[in-house]
Amino acid sequence: MRFSSFAVESGGLGPEVRVWGESDALVVSAPLPGVLRVRLFPEARANSLGFPRLGVKRSFALRPDLPAGLDLTVTEEGADLRVQGDGVTLRLDRVTGAWEVLGAAGEVLERALAWSGEAPTQRPALDAERFNLRRTRLNLDAPDGALYLGFGERVGPLDKRGMHLTFWNTDCFPHHTETDPLYVSVPFTTVLRGGRAHGVFVDESWRMEVDVARAHPHELRWASSGPELDVFVLAGPGPADVLRRYADLTGYAPMPPLWALGSAQSRWGYRTADDLRAVIQGYRDRNLPLDSVYVDIDYMDAYKVWTVSGANFPDLRAFVKEAGAQGVKLVPIVDPGVKLEAGYDVYEEATRGDHLVRTARGDVLVGEVWPDPAVFPDFTRPEVVAWWADRHRFFADAGIQGQWNDMNEPACFSLRQPRETEGKTLPYDARHGTRTHLEVHNAYANGMSEASRLGYAKFSPQIRPWVLTRAGYAGIQRHATVWTGDNTATWSHLALSLPMIQGLGLSGIPFAAADVGGFAGDTTGELLARWYQAAVGYAFLRNHAALGTADQEPWRFGEAVTDVIRAALELRYRLLPHLYTLSQGATRTALPVMRPLALHWPADEDAAREDTQYLLGEGLMVAPVLRAGHRRRLVYLPAGDWAPVFNLSPSGPVVAGGQHVVADAPLDTLPLYLRAGTAVPVTEAAPHTTSARWAALSWLVHVGPQGFTGEVFEDDGDGPVGGRLTRLTGERDGTRLTIRQGAPGDAGEAGREVTLHLLGLEGARDAQGAELGRAGSALRLTLPADGQPVTLHLGGAGTTP
Ligand code: GLC
Repeated sequence: MRFSSFAVESGGLGPEVRVWGESDALVVSAPLPGVLRVRLFPEARANSLGFPRLGVKRSFALRPDLPAGLDLTVTEEGADLRVQGDGVTLRLDRVTGAWEVLGAAGEVLERALAWSGEAPTQRPALDAERFNLRRTRLNLDAPDGALYLGFGERVGPLDKRGMHLTFWNTDCFPHHTETDPLYVSVPFTTVLRGGRAHGVFVDESWRMEVDVARAHPHELRWASSGPELDVFVLAGPGPADVLRRYADLTGYAPMPPLWALGSAQSRWGYRTADDLRAVIQGYRDRNLPLDSVYVDIDYMDAYKVWTVSGANFPDLRAFVKEAGAQGVKLVPIVDPGVKLEAGYDVYEEATRGDHLVRTARGDVLVGEVWPDPAVFPDFTRPEVVAWWADRHRFFADAGIQGQWNDMNEPACFSLRQPRETEGKTLPYDARHGTRTHLEVHNAYANGMSEASRLGYAKFSPQIRPWVLTRAGYAGIQRHATVWTGDNTATWSHLALSLPMIQGLGLSGIPFAAADVGGFAGDTTGELLARWYQAAVGYAFLRNHAALGTADQEPWRFGEAVTDVIRAALELRYRLLPHLYTLSQGATRTALPVMRPLALHWPADEDAAREDTQYLLGEGLMVAPVLRAGHRRRLVYLPAGDWAPVFNLSPSGPVVAGGQHVVADAPLDTLPLYLRAGTAVPVTEAAPHTTSARWAALSWLVHVGPQGFTGEVFEDDGDGPVGGRLTRLTGERDGTRLTIRQGAPGDAGEAGREVTLHLLGLEGARDAQGAELGRAGSALRLTLPADGQPVTLHLGGAGTTP
């Protein structure tokens, strides 16, 4: 018998069932309804102090305010031990150690075939086996037909089955369409099978690998270089339920300010305030919307973080004001590497406070990033996070509201105390307090980004901060939005951006985007134009390019291309009420802004595998052209009726879903389809955002057989979140369509006039005989102050069934 004893105890996070035998142990708890946690400790006697009592976990991923776990019921049936939580049960075979997690109806969600570990004596020397540090393994059953979504920031298709993935945040410049790992590690997957979903999250920041049924076609094999595996099995039934449970565990993303959703221009190479002035002027002269300019490393004095070069930016605060008067925010870059320089206050403070990462021997670790030599704050310790947070007063006082945290894998180009490293980073055995770099590397960026959020909250409580990060571990969504790092100006990278961003969304990171136009290499006009179209539903939209590459502002490729880009940007601004509402929804539901079709059609294999299109909400399909020279593309439309609304105007007759259709898309055209039953709020294009209380609001409505629903979230667009969600519903009953705004009896929307563009009513007429459903027809309605509905009498025949 591998496990001879068990006990029910009260652990740090509520009730736990501790099971142990001669050498191994496991601890079961139920942190939330539908979630079971199984901490596996193979070789625990050799690895853990105080066996069978085991170490308290310090997780970077779990919400700090996670409530105490739920009660557990334990039953024994021969060798079987059953531990029941709320809607999930663990069945452990105490002879073999195999276990499975069952759902509420007794169905098997997940099955562990084997798990094992190594005692420390058998552990390879740290540098000896650079890429083979595994010591703790778990093999899960990977049944035929199961799709594996998520796993953080990855190349490849949405379904990662057949891939071998490494969790080790890496500054890979440039990355390719086959590169692994990238900058963000999230050891969480949603398993989709027969339309049902469940999740597996292994909360280990240690270097890990997962083999997704590649080496062993029916096994999902996890291997960690740490001593345990902290496994969460999350019940569905749908992928959206899995995401919600994951966010209940690891936290929801905070609401972005509206301006961050607007158009942004960036370039490594804008050196001075005058360079940025010229960029802003370039946008304004050509009537191109612009809300922010990102400021890359050249603003600093000798790459010293928390300094500004007086020569390049003589008066930062005045410049922030000047740009602000033109509706433009500045977003400066901040790198973690601190220049080692006597007398430089940041370095002096870090040394005095003992805030820096050390070598295995105990000296302060010295490396090279942009500053050379550089030292690294240890963001895995709360006191260092607090110190760094305080440093943000520097920008907060200058009126800065957004920050771009980069190089936080952390990237380190070389080391003064030479050690072998995996990628350009710190050595495995570098010291973070009592932990090694091998254990905390992946979570380094979480602390850095948390500090930014804390800093702005402290020094600018009146604004809603915007924090961007390149690296991260599970839980990073609580602190920052992710951009996908150093991509390339190629068509393959444009296409890659969609599964990458959607994969991040399926990893609990609802806000993510890629650099528009491509970072490395020279873009072309056609590629840039198509990229802007594809990015219409990125969580944020930033054109960014590397030093030395060809200029890629929207106007650099002639007027025809500028016109196409202007139209794409205007489309983005018209969609802002919808995008902002989706963003607010993401903060409550964890559903990403750019949604994979898999989220809403998990039982439809064509939909679940589709990674060249995406959804904005449940009903707006975006199908950009992703290939050079192509002027049409195949679009997959899942079940339902879809109205083509290319560039967001009615553009043809309704088509039935459940099939691929061909969309004509000359360079100026972005194929979009609105599903029957959906209403999408839109506004007018503007040079920049102002408030998210939309002065001009209209709805594009595809009336379905039952009617339609849509929603819009409105608030100031900045500052503390506290707005209002308004629902627009249309109930269809024969020839009557009853339209309501807000909740019944809700008098909050006094006399608001809204314009509805109704689609899907071909041939129908209202009571006055006016044609309702012709492509492009609009109905202007004033909804009464008392929340009473307006009823339309659809006189005509030929309406969609
Ligand atoms: C990194 C970033 C990139 C930035 C550059 C210079 O490569 O990923 O976006 O422009 O550093 O700061």
